[in-house]
Amino acid sequence: MIGVFDSGVGGLTVHRALVHRLPQADFTYLADQANAPYGVKTGEEIVELTKAGCIRLFERGASLVVLACNTASAIALRRLQQTWLPGYRKEIGRPVNILGIIVPTIEAATGLPWEHEAERRGEKAEKVDILGVFATQATVRSRVYEIEIDKRKQDLAVFSEPCPELVPLIEGDASAVDLAKAVEAHVQALKARIGRFPDRVVLGCTHYEIIADIFRAALPAGTPLIQQPASTADALELYLERHPDYVQGTSGSRVFLTTGTPGPQNGLVRGFWGGPVTFDAA
Ligand code: DGL
Repeated sequence: MIGVFDSGVGGLTVHRALVHRLPQADFTYLADQANAPYGVKTGEEIVELTKAGCIRLFERGASLVVLACNTASAIALRRLQQTWLPGYRKEIGRPVNILGIIVPTIEAATGLPWEHEAERRGEKAEKVDILGVFATQATVRSRVYEIEIDKRKQDLAVFSEPCPELVPLIEGDASAVDLAKAVEAHVQALKARIGRFPDRVVLGCTHYEIIADIFRAALPAGTPLIQQPASTADALELYLERHPDYVQGTSGSRVFLTTGTPGPQNGLVRGFWGGPVTFDAA
């Protein structure tokens, strides 16, 4: 079984692309809504909560957990892979792994494979294109997009805009008017910092994909939005081809769990999903 983890409903945007790509695989989605939002928490808190979420999914039989959350991927993934997972694998005696969504997003944003290293010229390359990243405070603070893109593609400048109120608004089923007001303010703030609109954009928080149309309306028409769900699905499919020892399951089961209040998810989620989504107690 494949586990998909997020602080809340945002990871559903990635989950949808994953199940579309691997319809026969068994999936369990876990939303840590009791502890959302993650983006305003400290690094240590994010690491511990992400670890707890992964353990829940591994205990239910997951072989792989996809962190469908930029914040957890940026802050916790490397730490858990390096310091916790090796011992945990021995403890449970089977192959398990955790995958994030930032590597495939950066590959999609740069058009380059992760292994690519920018040619280091004596002086800095002139930045030609500007990538705008809208994300949580923790993801922006990590500078992960700036650092990893600069290593690979020096002619792409990255400007990030933290949007701390958006996850609570989306989890809280805010009105389209309130969401549009908040998104517009962030797009304008980023524009003011850059001096113009960005050439392309990453919605670097999976929740924002639910309101992608509101971002599209606030950006100049035709601004490309890098598709995190699709690039994560590509990456997972390739990973499973290379690592067939991770058991995906074959019955196409779909389980949705929350650490928060079980029941139907809000209207924004229903609209995005195209029907009701109900979470059971984790
Ligand atoms: N969906 C998470 C992300 O991609 C939101 C984190 C939060 O809870 O603030 O970053």
